[in-house]
Amino acid sequence: MTLDQSLIQKALERFIKFAESYMKGANSENREAYRLKKDHTVRVFEAAKTIVEQSKNIDIETGTIILLAAILHDVGRFEQWKLTKSYRDTAGSNHPEIGARMLENGGIEHFIPKTRKYDKIIIMTVRWHGALNLPENLNERELLVCQIVRDSDRMDIFYQSTIKRDFPILYSQKLGNKNLSEGVKKSFEEDKSVQWAHVRTKFDMLALRLALCKQMSTQASKEYIIKKDYVNSMVDFFKKMLTDGKGHFYYNVEELEWLRNNTMEYLMR
Ligand SMILES: [Fe+2]
Repeated sequence: MTLDQSLIQKALERFIKFAESYMKGANSENREAYRLKKDHTVRVFEAAKTIVEQSKNIDIETGTIILLAAILHDVGRFEQWKLTKSYRDTAGSNHPEIGARMLENGGIEHFIPKTRKYDKIIIMTVRWHGALNLPENLNERELLVCQIVRDSDRMDIFYQSTIKRDFPILYSQKLGNKNLSEGVKKSFEEDKSVQWAHVRTKFDMLALRLALCKQMSTQASKEYIIKKDYVNSMVDFFKKMLTDGKGHFYYNVEELEWLRNNTMEYLMR
């Protein structure tokens, strides 16, 4: 498959320059915050690229749109941090909306100077990339673009779940009980997403993360998780982290292995 490399390369270069313009002159804390989002975007782009290349049902134009949307999905993060010094999304500071508005107000012409053909679908994808439920009136192409950008964004959560630096930021829950909380176990068993309200412990968070693997929208997305070995990496990393260092382990071994096997079996179906 030959995607429109000139559009994609230009957008990626301009995105990197855009991110670096925020970093320039910023103090070290702010620079680090911007850098996290720049690196995140590059990884999401790489994941999207692999998924697009491995998919059998994506035409060249749709593949190009997916990669452009992946590059731009988090542009709103930079302004969000500049204004609030936080990545918390609230009613007044919602990064998908900040990004979509920025692109609507001329930003998209800067990143994609050559054509206005894809503006609408890209901005729509940026606006909805964080939503739990997508709007109902999307056409087939819009749905596919949104789904693959979302899958690729989630791949990066799997990656970050195995990084020592990000672990304490992502998982502030208590070590707590050895067994999975009841609601968490039930949702996982039924291949449903784990409700945030049911999560009590870090072990529950592992189940929540693994349950995201079951929500991948394409076969190529599932294959990407298998190829990257994210399930084993996450389970093994959590095993290491679910201890207080004094010989107390905060997971039930059987349940932990059940989470691992159940997720892998789902992905290989
Ligand atoms: Fe985002």
